[in-house]
Amino acid sequence: MTGRGDPCGCPPSITSTARQKRSAQLKQKAQIKETTDFAPLGARGPGSVETSEPAPWPQKAGKLQDPFPVDGKGPTAHHKWLNTWPASCDRTRVQSSGGRSFQLDAMSAQSGRVDRHTVAGIFHQTFGTQPEIVARGPGRVNLIGEHTDYNDGFVLPMAIDRAIWVALRPRRDRWVMVHFNDTKQYGEFHLDALRNTGEGSIEYVKGVAWSLQEEGFFLRGWEGVVVGDVPVGAGLSSSAALEVVTARVFAAVSQFPWDPVKMALLSQRAENRWVGVQCGIMDQLISACGQADHALLIDCRSLELQQVPLPPSVRVVILDTGTRRGLVDSAYNERRAACEHTAEQFRVRALRDISLEEFERRAAEMDETTRKRVRHVISENDRTLRAAEALRQGDVATFGRLMVESHVSLRDDFEVSSPALDAMVEIALSHPGCLGARMTGAGFGGCAVALVEAEIAETFAQNVAEEYRQKTKHEPAVYISRASDGADLVP
Ligand code: GLA
Repeated sequence: MTGRGDPCGCPPSITSTARQKRSAQLKQKAQIKETTDFAPLGARGPGSVETSEPAPWPQKAGKLQDPFPVDGKGPTAHHKWLNTWPASCDRTRVQSSGGRSFQLDAMSAQSGRVDRHTVAGIFHQTFGTQPEIVARGPGRVNLIGEHTDYNDGFVLPMAIDRAIWVALRPRRDRWVMVHFNDTKQYGEFHLDALRNTGEGSIEYVKGVAWSLQEEGFFLRGWEGVVVGDVPVGAGLSSSAALEVVTARVFAAVSQFPWDPVKMALLSQRAENRWVGVQCGIMDQLISACGQADHALLIDCRSLELQQVPLPPSVRVVILDTGTRRGLVDSAYNERRAACEHTAEQFRVRALRDISLEEFERRAAEMDETTRKRVRHVISENDRTLRAAEALRQGDVATFGRLMVESHVSLRDDFEVSSPALDAMVEIALSHPGCLGARMTGAGFGGCAVALVEAEIAETFAQNVAEEYRQKTKHEPAVYISRASDGADLVP
């Protein structure tokens, strides 16, 4: 491992001949490599309470110049090895995934807040120059409508002011080379030789490249750094944020128009078919289509989107229980399969198509577990629509009550809560000024979300964190979050 000062990070133990040989082999195979030589950001310890109001995000990007205009000779003209990596550096590096599990496991979990300046600085440390493009893809918190997206139902998430950032420069060839600053991973692949090795965060980037190419996009290579401040495994969609920002980067580098809904769908396909998680469309769609100070009502069947303003009198507080679940290994896929199976039995396309009346009429046909799962989905869809309407009317009290009902349904009927989530929600609700609280995301651990009166938000955050720590012995983190814009370039 090299020190921080070495911009190349070449492992000193490798001789130059061995490096060249290994480099040639690896170029051929286009495998993933990982290094451990990138300086971490300032650590953010556990148990933190973030109470400061973040600065608003810079607005939309101007038109990008194409640094390598297409010369009309077709893709192969760009396949030359025009390496812009720092001179003298063995670009292929040596690895060591150490059997890392196939998730964004540690990514960004330790990071402090990230902005354009941070990610551009890390790019500069790595490449010795300023990035040509910077993009961000936000995480999300779901306010209501849980486990309804894959049942063709309704959800009401908002994009949060924590994101995955990429700073990069285009390449003339079709190599993609990525330094993941937070995990110190390095990965690379050639766009003509995509192979799923199932290791490391690079698979999300590769999966999106695969999905875009499947759709017929001609992609160009790039090299850059990825930095994030979305807590991982917390139910705030760090993986969707990485997928969507990757799509945004490919659109910029490859010069095709940014269509947020289409890109969200292609990012979801990457997650479903490359990563292997059968998630619904919510996470990618909100990361791509979020709007500052708004929640987004999504009809997950028609993909009709309605921006719903968040009243300035309230704050959304994310309450991280400090407990984690593995989405791939969790009961998520099993819940989804059970819902689909029940829809088949009812001979409908999805559980969304079962009305409350029909459910009640046929309730006796179902076993107890199925009855509870279906009841959750039907009632949650109804709550989500009512919650969106309440928000539009500025009726935050009704919104809060619906959040609590949602939590009870997820806990008792869908059975995806956990003791830590239940404790967090209970503690939050016992504090003055809390209008409502519930678990958020897939469940089994991760975060709860609370809606609180704006003026008590900071006190609430501190007091809830303290009480939760004392009662559960888990280390919480609390974020007062603003709704942000969806993925975009940040000039
Ligand atoms: C995860 C999935 C989403 C959604 C939620 C539960 O976040 O990625 O698609 O199903 O769980 O609402």
